[in-house]
Amino acid sequence: MEVSSVLLCSGCSPWQGFLLTASLLTSWLLPTTAQVTLESSPPQVVEGENVLLSVDNMPENIIGFGWFKGETDMNRGIALYSLRYTISLMGPVHSGRETLYGNGSLWIKNVTQEDTGFYTFRIINKHGKIQSNTTLFLHVKSSLFVCGHPFNPEQPTIESVPVSVSEWGSVLLRVHHLPNYLRTLFWYRGALVLNKLEIVRYRTFKDSYELGPAHSGRETMFNTGSLLLQNVTWKDTGFYTLRTLSTEFNVELIHIYLQVNKPVTQPILRVTESIVTVQSSVVFTCLSDNTGVSIRWLFKNQNLQVTERMTLSPSNCQLRIHAVRKKDAGQYRCEVFNPISSKTSLPVSLAVMNE
Ligand SMILES: *[C@@H]1O[C@H](CO)[C@@H](O)[C@H](O)[C@H]1NC(C)=O
Ligand SMILES: *[C@@H]1O[C@H](CO)[C@@H](O)[C@H](O)[C@H]1NC(C)=O
Ligand SMILES: *[C@@H]1O[C@H](CO)[C@@H](O)[C@H](O)[C@H]1NC(C)=O
Ligand SMILES: *[C@@H]1O[C@H](CO)[C@@H](O)[C@H](O)[C@H]1NC(C)=O
Repeated sequence: MEVSSVLLCSGCSPWQGFLLTASLLTSWLLPTTAQVTLESSPPQVVEGENVLLSVDNMPENIIGFGWFKGETDMNRGIALYSLRYTISLMGPVHSGRETLYGNGSLWIKNVTQEDTGFYTFRIINKHGKIQSNTTLFLHVKSSLFVCGHPFNPEQPTIESVPVSVSEWGSVLLRVHHLPNYLRTLFWYRGALVLNKLEIVRYRTFKDSYELGPAHSGRETMFNTGSLLLQNVTWKDTGFYTLRTLSTEFNVELIHIYLQVNKPVTQPILRVTESIVTVQSSVVFTCLSDNTGVSIRWLFKNQNLQVTERMTLSPSNCQLRIHAVRKKDAGQYRCEVFNPISSKTSLPVSLAVMNE
């Protein structure tokens, strides 16, 4: 079946006929011709502008050609041109803004960001067969681009929901303001991009997920880029990295630190001497086997008022009292806490004697 006959066939829509013809073309040997190339002018286009997608090295002895949206879908035709009858036909995805010329060029007026994507130019040879497919990626930039720099008020970010998770809980690493026009998204355990640390990847075009070597069976990725971690353990604490690969092969990395807390255990309070004389000094130490915890001191079951005679170690785990006074006598306790739990030590009494 020839495209020409299809174009003139009665009772069927020319576009359907063309598609039927194209779908019959499977095992046709290609004649060697110079490679058809496509070009966008201007090369960078901003929404609201016009763009010309032009064709170079158009072969001889052809009867028509067409432009399609996407790389493989024959149903997403924009326009088809018959050289024999010098007519142009609109395809199913023609937006009303495209004009197809006899030299192959496609003129798109007043482009929008939705026009971004792959455009495929297909040539029909004199046997009515598709002779070549050539693809171009058109990226319509946002009009928020100012002075050559992207005006990007919303950088992609990752948020941990909840902010802090306890062991055996679930946490969603939620991605915000993911750029459009991504090809692939990858998640890695850690701050480095290493193959063996890849958890999962998502290919937007195929809408498919592939698990990586670092997938533990507890991670689920969504097409929004977000990653759900279930039944987390303390060992899941650390950095996670999202790598995005755009349709133009630009790479971006976004990191997040995940804190998995386990409930704290009871700390133990020790004192250098439990009976001291006035003016001497004493050191309390709060011993905890939890890491990443905060420590608070209690005196007579109240928050300790730290005076100029007292010093706390940088991590708060030691309390030193210089020049002890009678009023320092009483019960001391320390409390360790993290965002999900807290535990208080048993009390330790300090007695203060006169010299
Ligand atoms: C062109 O693309 C269509 C759709 O993907 C395919 O069926 C056809 O075989 C391709 N033809 C050539 C010559 O590459
Ligand atoms: C194709 O034709 C259009 C309209 O006449 C013209 O603007 C464009 O420059 C031509 N392109 C080439 C590559 O000749
Ligand atoms: C361009 O398209 C926008 C909507 O996408 C519309 O508001 C505007 O009027 C159009 N401009 C022209 C010149 O057609
Ligand atoms: C969570 O993990 C622990 C051990 O890692 C396992 O015993 C438990 O069954 C898991 N729970 C769920 C809900 O998967």
